[in-house]
Amino acid sequence: MHDIIEQLEKKRAAARLGGGEKRIAAQHAKGKLTARERLELLLDEGSFEEWDMFVEHRCVDFGMADNRPPGDGVVTGYGMINGRLVFVFSQDFTVFGGALSEAHAEKICKVMDQAMKVGAPVIGLNDSGGARIQEGVASLGGYAEVFQRNVLASGVVPQISLIMGPCAGGAVYSPAMTDFIFMVKDSSYMFVTGPEVVKTVTHEEVTAEELGGAITHTSKSGVADLAFENDVEAIAMLRRFFNYLPLNNREKPPVRPSEDAADRTDLSLDTLVPDNPNQPYDIKELIFKVVDDGDFFELQPEHAKNIVIGFGRMDGRSVGIVANNPMVLAGCLDIKSSIKAARFVRFCDAFNIPVVTFVDVPGFMPGTSQEYGGIIKHGAKLLYAYAECTVPKVTVITRKAYGGAYDVMSSKHLRGDVNFSWPNAEIAVMGAKGAVEIIFREDKGDPAKLAAKEAEYKTRFANPFVAGARGYIDDVIQPHETRKRICRSLAMLKDKKLENPWRKHGNIPL
Ligand code: HXC
Repeated sequence: MHDIIEQLEKKRAAARLGGGEKRIAAQHAKGKLTARERLELLLDEGSFEEWDMFVEHRCVDFGMADNRPPGDGVVTGYGMINGRLVFVFSQDFTVFGGALSEAHAEKICKVMDQAMKVGAPVIGLNDSGGARIQEGVASLGGYAEVFQRNVLASGVVPQISLIMGPCAGGAVYSPAMTDFIFMVKDSSYMFVTGPEVVKTVTHEEVTAEELGGAITHTSKSGVADLAFENDVEAIAMLRRFFNYLPLNNREKPPVRPSEDAADRTDLSLDTLVPDNPNQPYDIKELIFKVVDDGDFFELQPEHAKNIVIGFGRMDGRSVGIVANNPMVLAGCLDIKSSIKAARFVRFCDAFNIPVVTFVDVPGFMPGTSQEYGGIIKHGAKLLYAYAECTVPKVTVITRKAYGGAYDVMSSKHLRGDVNFSWPNAEIAVMGAKGAVEIIFREDKGDPAKLAAKEAEYKTRFANPFVAGARGYIDDVIQPHETRKRICRSLAMLKDKKLENPWRKHGNIPL
């Protein structure tokens, strides 16, 4: 028995060593933690239950028969984050560059399958050179098995990817199908093909950082949600982020009691919106002032800044917040902002998280680049997302709600449950100047007449009462009581039930 225990310990020690001391040192030299060190930080102390430590690959080609590190380049299992269950896999770059073999894929699939059975999120710590080249099609098959599970788990359990090293080829497509992607600056990359292939095919000279670094994906492409300075910060923020999410689509979001009174008012909000309707103001100030304890977890802050998305809590309950940001492009809806917000609204809807929407939008962005880029189809994504959404929806129009964008931004007509407006709101088909120039085109040569008509239009339409008279706005509220009114509405909506008609699935304009 003693021998057997010794053997077991030896095997465990070998597995814990991954690709060996030298490769671990190389990993540390790059400022990266190892797969196990990362899990230690991610999970509550002592909570990690590891599975499949002794799994080995089955490849015999290219000298692989004599090189079978136990665990095969990925550490898998389950544990707790702040006492809540989560399944994890953490790829070990010290073993074949974290490349995915058939056995490596099987380990990931096993935790995903179990997570689905018990209803718990899956977090993947990705650090992988993609398909294990020595294994050929067996590794491609392995990837497809993971992809299939990503899709079946989508909307059932939250899936989060942390990109913590180079992720090439197949290694990016699994994260792409998860709900959120966080990256680490200067040490993580995501690309379908690396700089060398790019140079051969398109003759572009580009660094890995420019092609697929954390800044590229959190600002330009919008593939990733957030970029962090290092592994430790990324993991600490992921633990914080996890607290906002329910464990699965049958659960309500977690409640965290707060000392912040639900009926707290904030008089500074009464002067947030400038008198000049064309002057911008920071919508994030409103968000920070209405959520519990000023705690707002923003996603994609550097991408499509004309719309703000993220999680907060109101009276202890998680809410998803979507807000037009008049500081950028006057808060217009364009292709990128529509896609950004649509995906977020769909996540909230899938996981029973109420959506609070702050509206200050002059309309959709005009122009050839938007039209050629397909703003019709992409703008429709946001319209579709809000229209199919059945979770509680509370909307506050803080200033402009013009045109199609009025409809889109969680309007009453798209089953908004409670729709408020601030007293200064302008709810109309378009701004006064544009409207008058169209309706009174024949008076183009008479500026005085046009000015009078513009003033008349403003008085008639640039207010919330026309919409209020039709019941499209439930109440015109004082800005300082915004938090109180939203909290009350959400409490009223706590047990809301609404179902869409049965169908296999809708056909969102992709
Ligand atoms: C097997 C791999 C590997 C792979 C890296 N390694 N990638 N082994 N299969 N895909 C091994 C290396 O041989 C090396 O082994 C160790 O991992 C570390 O790699 P380095 O190159 O020394 O590290 P680094 O310089 O940091 O570069 C990392 C890298 C690079 C950028 C990931 O290794 C790379 O470009 N790898 C290939 C990427 C790729 O083309 N993958 C296949 C994509 S196709 P030793 O023993 O020397 O330590 C794909 C298809 C799926 O994924 C598509 C599904 C849709």
